[in-house]
Amino acid sequence: MDPISNPYTPGAGVRPYELVGRGEFIDGFDVALQRSGLRLAARSKILYGLRGVGKTVLLQEFVEHARRRKWLVIEMEARTGQSLMSVLVGQIFQELRDAGRTWSGETLTWVRRVFKAFSLTADPSTGTYSFEVDLEPASGHADSGDPDRDLPEMLGELVSLAGHHGVGLLLAIDELQEVDGPTLSSLNTTIHRMGQGPEPSPFLFVGAGLPSLRRILSEATSYTERLFEYWQIGPLSDDAIRAALKGPTTAHGVRWDPEALDAGVEFCRGYPYFAQVLGQRAWDVAEGTPIARDAVAEAIRYAGRDIDAGLYAARWQRATRGEQRFMQAMADSGGGPVLMSELVTALGRDRPAQLSPTRNQLISKGLVYAPDRGEVDFTVPGMAEFVKRQEVL
Ligand SMILES: Nc1ncnc2c1ncn2[C@@H]1O[C@H](COP(=O)(O)OP(=O)(O)OP(=O)(O)O)[C@@H](O)[C@H]1O
Ligand SMILES: [Mg+2]
Repeated sequence: MDPISNPYTPGAGVRPYELVGRGEFIDGFDVALQRSGLRLAARSKILYGLRGVGKTVLLQEFVEHARRRKWLVIEMEARTGQSLMSVLVGQIFQELRDAGRTWSGETLTWVRRVFKAFSLTADPSTGTYSFEVDLEPASGHADSGDPDRDLPEMLGELVSLAGHHGVGLLLAIDELQEVDGPTLSSLNTTIHRMGQGPEPSPFLFVGAGLPSLRRILSEATSYTERLFEYWQIGPLSDDAIRAALKGPTTAHGVRWDPEALDAGVEFCRGYPYFAQVLGQRAWDVAEGTPIARDAVAEAIRYAGRDIDAGLYAARWQRATRGEQRFMQAMADSGGGPVLMSELVTALGRDRPAQLSPTRNQLISKGLVYAPDRGEVDFTVPGMAEFVKRQEVL
């Protein structure tokens, strides 16, 4: 069918035609948002899961819901080696500038002045940010240079501004596992403080990232298990995958042959990214409605190649030979989390410490993560099978 009108959305963070199978999380977030708006206790959320399971699109859905309620929203993506504070400064600036379109008055001016003081210490490299009217920085506020003090103060001012206008503040950070330990600790302190006091502040935090987040956060501060509600974003049910495959074509008056759909569901193994890749291929291959069995069989072959090329091959090639050998030993161990001690034996070493540099490199390249201490696993679903298909090194 016409590729120009192809309704599928393979990619990173690309909003699908319909966000299937995540209703429970969306409802849970809405309850938290409304409770928080009413200054009732509501816990911040951490979305964790493997690559391509749909964390970013869900996070964006939450952001959308907060915006619909006219909340202030600070959203960003953490990157390796980049200072979160400087990105945060830029995002706060944008939000405070945009706030000027609907709000005015002393509270807004005051928060902008605190922001100026904050930005000068938090990110001196970018110079001053200016609003329509030039403002004096509110010296002595959120500008001590200690993020443990400045971050809660700055965000606290934003929450007051939001509260003053009858809404709240949502802070949403994607790829949270990339944030360095000290900044995470300041972030945790901030979130913790927002929940204290005579009544909770209208503030919510949502973080998304790899399954190692739970451990990383609790290593940064001790009370995170109580601070956050952890939501595991796992594979979708077969029914949800069926809906992800079928939904986008319905609007075009195109059906899927039931057997073709079953074959598609089996191929996807619950991964929404696979559903988007397969759907896209099936649309292109199919002659018209219904999308037939043989068209899907052909699309599955193409989609398999697309996934190999787009998801696995680039990652595999990013690894050195030593790292590839390490991954082969992981894949050979049967899939799922592997103990480092097992890999020591498999790779003919004496101690786990000898493998630490390779393991750390693979973590920083984003290929593996540590689900728990002394364990490693692949970040991408199906990577073990791909690795097994590679030539033995
Ligand atoms: N619930 C869903 N329904 C339909 N499609 C989805 C759903 N969730 C994700 N997708 C699709 O799956 C793909 C991956 O989504 P997304 O980028 O949000 O995953 P992710 O978990 O953030 O991955 P990464 O860890 O690589 O950042 C996208 O093509 C998106 O359109
Ligand atoms: Mg993502």
